[in-house]
Amino acid sequence: MTTMTASPSSAAHDIQVVTLKIDDQEVSASRNQTILQVAAENQIEIPTLCFMPGLKPMGSCRICLVELAGSPRLFAACVTRVSEGMTVITDSPRLRKYRKQIVELLFVERNHVCSVCVSNGRCELQALAVKLGITHITQPYRYDKMVVDSSHDLFRLDHNRCVLCTRCVRVCDQIEGAHVWDVAGRGIDCRITADLNLPWGDSDVCTSCGKCVHICPTGALTEKGTAVAEMRKQPDFLPYLTIMRENH
Ligand code: FES
Repeated sequence: MTTMTASPSSAAHDIQVVTLKIDDQEVSASRNQTILQVAAENQIEIPTLCFMPGLKPMGSCRICLVELAGSPRLFAACVTRVSEGMTVITDSPRLRKYRKQIVELLFVERNHVCSVCVSNGRCELQALAVKLGITHITQPYRYDKMVVDSSHDLFRLDHNRCVLCTRCVRVCDQIEGAHVWDVAGRGIDCRITADLNLPWGDSDVCTSCGKCVHICPTGALTEKGTAVAEMRKQPDFLPYLTIMRENH
């Protein structure tokens, strides 16, 4: 049996500095960084939705798509690592078109009628739509009326507003350690489920910490007792917790 150990040379490989171009700006970075991290460090904004600093990136929403010179493919900046000589384009008519289509399909897939949502005015999906200039939907709506789970004493899950970013799944698993949430189903039937499809209020492992609620980008997870446009999310706890853990 062989045992794998990290050699000094592999550690040196991890911190190797690379130079690349992002939107004609020459930048340097550590080779284990993602394009999104390096762009943010250099004040280059790439739109995101499923990404949340402090959680492992999933690369599922594809809003952060970028072009790489020499490749016909598009790459998710949050999960693509930089490499020497890379040329990244973060904004182009092609990227704007795809980002717009992705956001439009999210609106088509569920009921996001902002005017009656508790997160109206503070919703990341809504803000993204405004930023991308989405004023109307060009595709036929596909959503059925979905259930609202109000079984928890403090919180509510409205599947109609969920964009399946899995931030709730990841924060509950990676930070709180409770792993209440999972994703069940395929395609348009995908749903966030608590404890293998129990009503949220029946979950034995939920600690009622509210981390999932405050990290949810839309009005899918909210506090009970909030009316239209009243829900204020406070996701800042996550970078704070991460820094505190790193500093012990
Ligand atoms: Fe990168 Fe969602 S933010 S795929």
